[in-house]
Amino acid sequence: MANVVVVGAQWGDEGKGKIVDWLSERADVICRFQGGHNAGHTLVIDGEVFKLHALPSGVVRKGKLSVIGNGVVLDPWHLLKEIETIRAQGVEITAETLMIAENTPLILPFHGELDRAREEAASKGTKIGTTGRGIGPAYEDKVGRRVIRVADLADDATLEARVDRALQHHNPLRKGLGVEEIDREALLAQLKEIAPGILEYAAPVWKVLSEKRKAGKRILFEGAQGALLDIDFGTYPFVTSSNVIAGQAATGVGMGPGAVNYVLGIVKAYTTRVGEGPFPTELHDDDGQRLGERGHEFGTTTGRKRRCGWFDAALVRQTCAISGINGICLTKLDVLDGFETLKICVGYELDGKTLDYLPTAADEQARCTPVYEEMPGWSESTEGARSWNDLPAGAIKYVKRVEELIGCPVALLSTSPEREDTILVTDPFAD
Ligand code: IMP
Repeated sequence: MANVVVVGAQWGDEGKGKIVDWLSERADVICRFQGGHNAGHTLVIDGEVFKLHALPSGVVRKGKLSVIGNGVVLDPWHLLKEIETIRAQGVEITAETLMIAENTPLILPFHGELDRAREEAASKGTKIGTTGRGIGPAYEDKVGRRVIRVADLADDATLEARVDRALQHHNPLRKGLGVEEIDREALLAQLKEIAPGILEYAAPVWKVLSEKRKAGKRILFEGAQGALLDIDFGTYPFVTSSNVIAGQAATGVGMGPGAVNYVLGIVKAYTTRVGEGPFPTELHDDDGQRLGERGHEFGTTTGRKRRCGWFDAALVRQTCAISGINGICLTKLDVLDGFETLKICVGYELDGKTLDYLPTAADEQARCTPVYEEMPGWSESTEGARSWNDLPAGAIKYVKRVEELIGCPVALLSTSPEREDTILVTDPFAD
């Protein structure tokens, strides 16, 4: 049976939520494998809007199993609130439909405080522009072997020992930052209060998934953020703190690399970025303004205005290679409707040389200037198109040129936030 990974191939916000929801109809299990509630996935189903941050996008579908894997960092308070909100929209969430890996690290209130305190103290040029949700500090604690994990909530003595270990690190750190020390008893009381609500969903996810796979069930892995925010391959240090590329999917739930059969990269027809960091094709003119307005480019999680720019084929070619992308889903093509001329970045000029990829060194990235190719736009609307025949010739030419430049075929095209406004070229789940 084919298992599919969906990953972002730019700086996140490519429209993964809608596609995961669309694909989840064909899947039995939908897994989050990295990131946390820094993600923001918007689903529009029959006009109703669902905003998800920590829950897998498959949760709104009946009869599917949604999984939060060990590669995720989980804010338990946020999760319980999100479950309540989504339930209030009529969605059923039970221990049969949602499972959380027992070895999932928890984001605690002091992680968010540290994240925000660091950002506030950062000077220009060092600020990351994080979502302030404690993602980085929680991953630091996981690697530092002092994080509290879901399974630790089940036993008071273990929980107390884990909290002591975490505070041994955090209290001196807070003292140095001039922040009040963490009150051990208050934290323990907070954790014990939410423990039953979280433990209800705790499961040995690696085992459940192994059994599902043996039973021939289809698994969909839902990536968050995008490859250019990857901790190793992104524009470091202006990145998130997890591996977001497809290779992480198996590790982030406890499966082997052979569990993944198809990697679908989600690619916006132009480029956006939230937060700080390099962005070679960023526009500061009317075209950039127009992309932002037409594309409603405001963050789902923080409401921040997204930076906008032309499509960067060189960067997407790079992320297709790093994530092993088999096919892309091109989203928001309709935002380009009505532009007289479109530009596509095909490479960079650096110190008199032309490069077909973005170099790793920060100073080189800063000196790279994009090399553009221009194409005529189209005046017709592509919004809501459901077949190639509905697309104007200019739009088809643009899509074909994108395929050529990134060296990867278009498997799906999304033409509006609505679930059904999607053109299927290749079914990622086809065996
Ligand atoms: P963090 O993940 O909150 O630590 O933020 C690190 C960087 O990743 C910042 O530039 C954020 O704006 C960016 N980021 C994190 N999550 C998302 C997302 O879901 N979409 C787009 N950018 C994100």
